[in-house]
Amino acid sequence: MIGVLVSGNGTNLQALLDAGLPVSAVAANRKDAYALVRAREAGVPTATFGLDCHADRAERDLVMATWLEEHRVELVVLAGYMHLLTPPFLKRFPERVINVHPSLLPAFPGAHPIDDALAAGARTTGVSVHYVDEGLDTGPLITQEEVPVEPRDTLVERIHAVEHRLLPEVVRDLCLAAP
Ligand code: GAR
Repeated sequence: MIGVLVSGNGTNLQALLDAGLPVSAVAANRKDAYALVRAREAGVPTATFGLDCHADRAERDLVMATWLEEHRVELVVLAGYMHLLTPPFLKRFPERVINVHPSLLPAFPGAHPIDDALAAGARTTGVSVHYVDEGLDTGPLITQEEVPVEPRDTLVERIHAVEHRLLPEVVRDLCLAAP
């Protein structure tokens, strides 16, 4: 079973749902994330774990990990989740947390990778899917796909289209490979 962590629109979550992957729980760090609406419409249990309700990040992450385990989650997918995960969370899902990011990591980590690639004058950017560690968009790569920057006016759409194909492919492969 897959648990998806979200913070925003949730188009990558939607791609996982549309691919028929076994998403059993969706957790957000903010209650206004539109991804939560998508999950509820698909009949998937949701919860919000805001920092304001917990003593610190580590405690929040432990409560979130327990909730995911209660929903039989074996693989955690970060789909636009904009908080770093703390070591106590990662220890609960060893080598079972992955992230999708709209750049060719290690280039352009962080919250504005597409703008950063444009500002740097990159001719090629892309999409990465990688295992998550406690760093900012770091951890061993699983796969990458290049996306040419030009034509710039369609770059965002082309990157998202690659994400929406690549992420479900990786998740499906990992589910098939699981013991
Ligand atoms: C996606 O482009 C995802 O790769 C990116 O946030 C967007 C979320 O869109 N993630 C990161 O930048 C992680 N550092 P979505 O909510 O529509 O899936």
